[in-house]
Amino acid sequence: MVRGKPNLLITGTPGTGKTTMSSALAEATQLRHVNIGDLVKEKNLHDGWDEEFECHVINEDLVCDELEDMMEEGGVIVDYHGCEFFPERWFDRVVVLQTENSILYDRLSKRGYTGSKLTNNIECEIFQTLLEEAKDSYQEDVVVAMKSDSIDDIEKNVADLTDWVASWCTTQSVESDSNSMRD
Ligand SMILES: Nc1ncnc2c1ncn2[C@@H]1O[C@H](COP(=O)(O)OP(=O)(O)OP(=O)(O)O)[C@@H](O)[C@H]1O
Ligand SMILES: [Mg+2]
Repeated sequence: MVRGKPNLLITGTPGTGKTTMSSALAEATQLRHVNIGDLVKEKNLHDGWDEEFECHVINEDLVCDELEDMMEEGGVIVDYHGCEFFPERWFDRVVVLQTENSILYDRLSKRGYTGSKLTNNIECEIFQTLLEEAKDSYQEDVVVAMKSDSIDDIEKNVADLTDWVASWCTTQSVESDSNSMRD
């Protein structure tokens, strides 16, 4: 089945601005923003609490089952700091947000992150872990890295992605028109 609207995955290290940008993009495009962390808590899609990493251990199968119908319909912005367990066919665009290390350090410190929780996340950003994961999991032309150091960056990214969504919808409707003419 062909989707009428595209699905986007917004990923990146914690603190790079996924939720901030996804909600601005949802407002600009009228697509639906799904924050996986919130969904997991609301619907109990986890296998308990991880003391070491201080987070829920998400149950990836339950999350995918919960999302399947919505993703098939299209028009969803998925916001999560991981990307390899979603089916590849779900996404038309995978955006990896990136933040300069010292800026990310300050953001995460402000949130109260300290010790290994802070350093693990900074290392994740230094090693571009999410970008590598995205490139390993999706086609090269689907994955795009975007800088998220400042508010101006958010505005630019939202504007660029809004244009991308509009042109995706136009192309899709031209293709479905020509398909129906052929039928
Ligand atoms: N591009 C940016 N410029 C300036 N501040 C930003 C930017 N992106 C996010 N912030 C700020 O950084 C903090 C973290 O942002 P946000 O919660 O959106 O990150 P996140 O990637 O969703 O994190 P998590 O993975 O933990 O959910 C917020 O206080 C937000 O206002
Ligand atoms: Mg978030």
